Amino acid sequence: MRRLVCLTLNKKTIYLTLFIILLVFMTATLWTYSEPKMLAYEHSLCSSPMKPIEVASCHRVQCPKKPIVTVRQLGRLGNQMWEYISVWAVAKVTDHEPYIPGCLIQTLEKIFQNLTVPPLSCIANCTLETYPVEGKVDNLTLLDGNILLQNYVQLPEYVVPLLNDVKQIFQFKEHIVKESQRLLQKASDGEKNVVYVGVHVRRTDYSEYLKRKYNASLVKSEFFLKQMNYFRIKYKSVMFVVLSDEPKWCEDELADDDVVVMKNNSPEQDLAIMAACNHSIIDYGTYGVWGAILAGGDTFVYNLKWDLAIKMASLLPDWHIVV
Ligand SMILES: *[C@@H]1O[C@H](CO)[C@@H](O)[C@H](O)[C@H]1NC(C)=O
Ligand SMILES: *[C@@H]1O[C@H](CO)[C@@H](O)[C@H](O)[C@H]1NC(C)=O
Ligand SMILES: *[C@@H]1O[C@H](CO)[C@@H](O)[C@H](O)[C@H]1NC(C)=O
Ligand SMILES: *[C@@H]1O[C@H](CO)[C@@H](O)[C@H](O)[C@H]1NC(C)=O
Ligand SMILES: *[C@@H]1O[C@H](CO)[C@@H](O)[C@H](O)[C@H]1NC(C)=O
Repeated sequence: MRRLVCLTLNKKTIYLTLFIILLVFMTATLWTYSEPKMLAYEHSLCSSPMKPIEVASCHRVQCPKKPIVTVRQLGRLGNQMWEYISVWAVAKVTDHEPYIPGCLIQTLEKIFQNLTVPPLSCIANCTLETYPVEGKVDNLTLLDGNILLQNYVQLPEYVVPLLNDVKQIFQFKEHIVKESQRLLQKASDGEKNVVYVGVHVRRTDYSEYLKRKYNASLVKSEFFLKQMNYFRIKYKSVMFVVLSDEPKWCEDELADDDVVVMKNNSPEQDLAIMAACNHSIIDYGTYGVWGAILAGGDTFVYNLKWDLAIKMASLLPDWHIVV
């Protein structure tokens, strides 16, 4: 009798043990096959669809040894360029490791070659002690944990001191560069030693935005014409290359023998054309600022208080606010 009880108990124990082993095995399997939390986090930062990253492209990436900095993908091309470069610059200055949502990299990769900041997907299987917290403090050097930069981040204070590197980072793809040069040649009719001045004219929906945010209205043609005359006096042979979301207005208001209004190019191509110019005249907005940054040379900006372009002009000797 006693023996039997003992045997039953043993049997029970065995079944229980087997059951526990099975449970552990199943949990482990499920764990392995479920999407790592980091991928879900990365997707939560995306505003455009993301293709899976090829793991082979992660071969140089190891798990982070320092706290990381990343950002949410928001806005159009100009915004996304700020998001990418702000992560890179903050990482450099504050001793964090930079990671970018894959979707943002995929957007920029259509235009630029050899981007090096790795996507978050590459550290999908690493464990982070805490998820990045939003860095809203003015001085990010005070944060020593993982950082998520503010939405629509633009950090000229961090980026401007590193501007030479920035121009190296945003290298347009070869076919885009070739097309820019072809269009500039065509504009100047093959003439040599022409000084090209990119003129960025932002209109359409910006009217409403300017009213709401700055109680201001769209800049008048006088602003552009005055600055164009400055260049006409300074250089013997000059060509103004106008990029705008409203080319018709530019043709009506700015037309002259030395003015060409670009039409029907993609926004990416227009940006590359601005970047290929020698100097810039810009009104406001992120996009024109990028064109001028990548062009280098002298930049004249419209005096719109607190605007990004004004901030840039306060940090760069070759940028001038037109009063
Ligand atoms: C940059 O990318 C191009 C093509 O996308 C490639 O041919 C070139 O080797 C790359 N350069 C470097 C330095 O990685
Ligand atoms: C993460 O682990 C999964 C499952 O082992 C694997 O398929 C995937 O390639 C890994 N990702 C990276 C970026 O190493
Ligand atoms: C942030 O603070 C540190 C130390 O107080 C200082 O060295 C650094 O210049 C500051 N950076 C910015 C961008 O204000
Ligand atoms: C907005 O600008 C107009 C014209 O410049 C001015 O009359 C008005 O007082 C301004 N409104 C505010 C709220 O500043
Ligand atoms: C001006 O821009 C053109 C077109 O990109 C370029 O070929 C030329 O070298 C530039 N000139 C100077 C002085 O940089």
